[in-house]
This record gives sequence, structure tokens and C-alpha cells, in this order.
Amino acid sequence: MEYIALCALGLEKILSNELKKMNYKIEKANDGMVEFYGNDYEYYKLNLNLRTAERIFIKIGEFYAETFDELFSGITDIKWVDFLPKNGKIIIDKVRTSKSVLYNQSVIQSVVKKAIIERLKKEYKINSYLEEAGIYKFRVYIKKNKVTIVLDTTGEGLHKRGYRKLVSQAPLRETIAAAMILKAGWKRKHVLIDPFCGSGTIPIEAAMYGLNIAPGLYRHFVFESWHNFNKNRLDKIKKEAIDSIKYTELKIYGFDKDYKMIEIAGKNAENFNLDKYINFEKNNMESIKLDYDEGYIITNPPYGERLKDKKHAEKIYEQMRYLRKKYPKFKYSIITSHEDFEKFFGNKSDKKKKIINGKQTLYIYEYK
Ligand SMILES: C[S@@+](CC[C@H](N)C(=O)[O-])C[C@H]1O[C@@H](n2cnc3c(N)ncnc32)[C@H](O)[C@@H]1O
Repeated sequence: MEYIALCALGLEKILSNELKKMNYKIEKANDGMVEFYGNDYEYYKLNLNLRTAERIFIKIGEFYAETFDELFSGITDIKWVDFLPKNGKIIIDKVRTSKSVLYNQSVIQSVVKKAIIERLKKEYKINSYLEEAGIYKFRVYIKKNKVTIVLDTTGEGLHKRGYRKLVSQAPLRETIAAAMILKAGWKRKHVLIDPFCGSGTIPIEAAMYGLNIAPGLYRHFVFESWHNFNKNRLDKIKKEAIDSIKYTELKIYGFDKDYKMIEIAGKNAENFNLDKYINFEKNNMESIKLDYDEGYIITNPPYGERLKDKKHAEKIYEQMRYLRKKYPKFKYSIITSHEDFEKFFGNKSDKKKKIINGKQTLYIYEYK
């Protein structure tokens, strides 16, 4: 079976490394998609365990089409009974086209759905297809006239782990926070400091990684609504994940100048029983005193979209120079949408990585 793991643009390599650790061989990794082969039901464990993926798709079919007739017949050539029951709810969730003759998204959506139902009616020998049970969401990508149709096994994006009931004004996506931690090379034995922790995303993701808690352990997936869903299989994989949690002491600290944020972060950590592994404390970055002289500072300082806020953010980056002076042996990984962060922080980063998440462009600046 061909799988595609979706991620934010720029995270393909980090996601590929996660997959390689799970013994998958990567076929292709670009445009926010990582492609690989796996067995039939491996999407259970992929959804459960991947920290930086946003969704897991099964590739259903691939063919060329320049007309709606070709699109219709390409779709009807697929053996849909392998994926759909007699009565599933079929949603053509998204259509993405580029450099192709076919581009009208709503027409593509309706042609594809009609073609799927046509084939299903023929094979199941039924006159009408009633959409009653299970949710089957598909996406259609058409690039240079090559149509790829995929089935979404995930449902609500994988960044929704379930712990973040309350958020800050500018929360960081959980999958991106996890990517920063993996990329920086932080391990459970190291100190981790987030001086601008907001709702606690970076410390919480670090605690989950440090304790080896599978990110999808406490949530549901759309495949649980499917006709072929095997609860025993999922329970078994969840039990394996629970058995591999390693409870151990962690040195993770989250600070924020806003007491309300510290309360929110604490509650979010409590949602996954992680409060005893993370120390949240109200403090200004400027006055932080650490008991350690080495470790990792992984953080998401304010950036501000409006000019006034942007100027304020730049002042904070200037202040961050003193943090680095005070703690020169720490490794720094800073994420912000500010393209000139280095100018204000006063040092050129060892690595700068661009990440595109929907409409937002972010940069990870790493100082080793
Ligand atoms: C972009 S938000 C962090 C969001 C966080 N990563 C999350 O996922 O919720 C920046 C945070 O920095 C805090 N902050 C701003 N200036 C600060 C300062 N001088 N010292 C400490 N915290 C500060 C704000 O209160 C805000 O919560």
C-alpha cells in the first residue's frame, strides 16, 4: 500500500527521519508530502506515533486526465470496493490543481464523487448509494495533468493531540513545536528552557517526546468510523505505545511574563498528566535565572504582525542577546515569522529553516 504523510512545507526531512526510525524506506519527500510503502493497516500506528505529520493518506490511484471524461473514466477504473462499503459517506474534501488543464475545483469534486458512486453501484449491484455510515474523506491533487487521489485516514489534523484546550494569542502548531525539538536534537537527559512558553506547547511536546508518549494516544481518528475498523488492532497498538512510555525525571522549564499564560500552560499539561514533568513559572525573559549552564533553549518569542507589535518584538530579540551572553553554552532554537531576527539578536544563525504552514511563513534559527 502506498502512503503519503502530509506535513508543513519545510518539515519533509524531519518527518522522513521519523519514518526511517520506524523502518520505512522513503520514496519521495517534497512539497509537504513524504511518500513511502507500508502494509495495509499500518496507518493505525502511523497516526498514533508520528510527531511532525499532519495527516496520513492512502494513495488510491494515479492517472493522467486533461478532460472531465478522462477524469471520470480514470476514477471509475479504480477498484473502489477495496476502500468503500455499500453505504459510506463520501466527501471530496479538497482539490488542489497546478499547471493542469482541469482546474475548476467544484466541478472536479462533483465529477470525482459521481464516478466513485457509479463504480460502487455497479460492483455492489445496487440502484442507489445511500451515504449513511462511516466518513471517507478524499483529496484530489492534479499536477501537470497527473491526477492523484488519496484517502485521508486521520480526520482532524494530527496537531490536535487533545491537551491544548486553552491557547495563547499566537499558539504554535504542536507538530511544528515537535519538529523544533527533534531538529535541535534535544533528548530526555538534557535541560530544556522555553522563556516565552505561552500556552506551553514546546514544553508539553518535549515532555511527551522525553517520556516516549505517542502523540496520538489520547485522540480519535476518522478511520475509527470505517466499515473495516478493527478495534482490537487499535487497542493492541495503543497498549504497545502505553507499555513503551518511560516515566523518568525531566528538566523542562517554561516561563512567560504573563501569569495567565502560566496558568493556561499548567492546565494544558495537566490534561495529559504532564504537570509533574514540567516547571511553569511566571518570569520575564530578561530576569530568568537558571540553575544550569548548558542545555537547550527552544522557544517561540512574540513576532507581531502589526508594525507597532513588530517593533516591540524586535526590542525583545535585542534583549535576547543578553540571555545568550548569560548562557553561552546553551544551544538555541528560535522560531519566529521575522525574517531579520538575526539582525536584532546580533548573531548569524548556524542554520535557518523556512517553514510554510498554511498562510504563515516561519523561520527556525538554530545556534549550536
Ligand atoms: C508567540 S507567544 C508563544 C506561544 C507559545 N509557543 C504557544 O504555543 O502558546 C509569545 C509569548 O511570549 C510572552 N512574552 C512576551 N514578552 C515576554 C518577555 N519579555 N518575557 C517573557 N515572556 C514574554 C507572551 O506573553 C506570549 O505568551
